[in-house]
Amino acid sequence: MSLNLLKQNTSWISRVFVGLKTPFSPSCIPTRRASCPTRNNLDLTDRVALVTGGTNGIGFEIAKRLGQNGATVVVSSRSQENVDKAVDKLRSGGLKQVHGIACHIAQEDARKQMISDVVSSHGDINILVQNAGVNPHAFGIMETSGSVVDKTCQVHIKANFQIVQEVQPYMQKSDKPCSIVLTSSASAYMTSYYPGIYAITKAGVNAMTRAFAPALSKDNIRINCVTIGPIDTDFMTAVSADEDMKGVIYRNLIIKRMGKPEEVAGIAAYLASDDASYVTGESFTVSGGAFCRF
Ligand SMILES: NC(=O)c1ccc[n+]([C@@H]2O[C@H](COP(=O)([O-])OP(=O)(O)OC[C@H]3O[C@@H](n4cnc5c(N)ncnc54)[C@H](OP(=O)(O)O)[C@@H]3O)[C@@H](O)[C@H]2O)c1
Repeated sequence: MSLNLLKQNTSWISRVFVGLKTPFSPSCIPTRRASCPTRNNLDLTDRVALVTGGTNGIGFEIAKRLGQNGATVVVSSRSQENVDKAVDKLRSGGLKQVHGIACHIAQEDARKQMISDVVSSHGDINILVQNAGVNPHAFGIMETSGSVVDKTCQVHIKANFQIVQEVQPYMQKSDKPCSIVLTSSASAYMTSYYPGIYAITKAGVNAMTRAFAPALSKDNIRINCVTIGPIDTDFMTAVSADEDMKGVIYRNLIIKRMGKPEEVAGIAAYLASDDASYVTGESFTVSGGAFCRF
């Protein structure tokens, strides 16, 4: 390598890895603190978390784990009755800072109101777990009606997309690190036995995680996605009851059983925490070892 070439390469390396003569403008560098190095980085004591679809199944267990790690938690779902029950259950399990708001995730006004209520009641919003999803109906891809396509796109694509945009101005104002966690499905990677539109729209969730990451990073907001395999919740009742379908699913798993909702909670709590301060735009699969790749 000639001396000139070596000099050019050295200067390229130093710009990228050492930050000398950085090619980035100062406006790209977040000014807010990324994390406090002295605390347990999983500790969420001073954080406020909103978990949509947080009254049952996976969302409930995520809310519980965030609360156990110290966060003030707000759980949300469509039914006020389910919200009240979930709040009672979490409080009777020992969590004190738990609250609830009823909200249909696809209703824009209700969603905006929910975010604004969280901030006015708790002073901040640092963690959003956007977990509410549409239950997949057992339709073949060719038989799926336009109304099912609309409903699935409204929740998985539009509501996920807009709630990220809606929460960003509040997180931007916070003086704490902020994290968004979306939930996708392993079916996004393998459309063979799940209904197509569910899988297609969940793949959109993985894609939007990546797409939002650079813009959010400027405000020190991270966004990641948990891509979930078969978990034994009410969502999967039809599958658990159908031995043939179960057999097809199990064939694709290394761990030959359905997962439990609490087995998803840990990764979501990690992604919400400062332990994940250098992690953004990623999708993490929790699927019993199912082969999951785009
Ligand atoms: N279980 C699995 O095997 C599996 C696999 C891959 C991905 N996922 C994803 O994981 C997420 C949670 O699933 P889960 O298995 O925990 O389901 P679940 O046990 O049926 O719980 C769903 C939760 O979401 C709420 N919800 C449903 N529709 C809503 C809406 N439009 N707006 C607001 N809240 C809504 C429900 O309460 P209300 O009825 O009161 O609204 C409930 O709290 C979903 O996004 C799902 O796609 C699940």
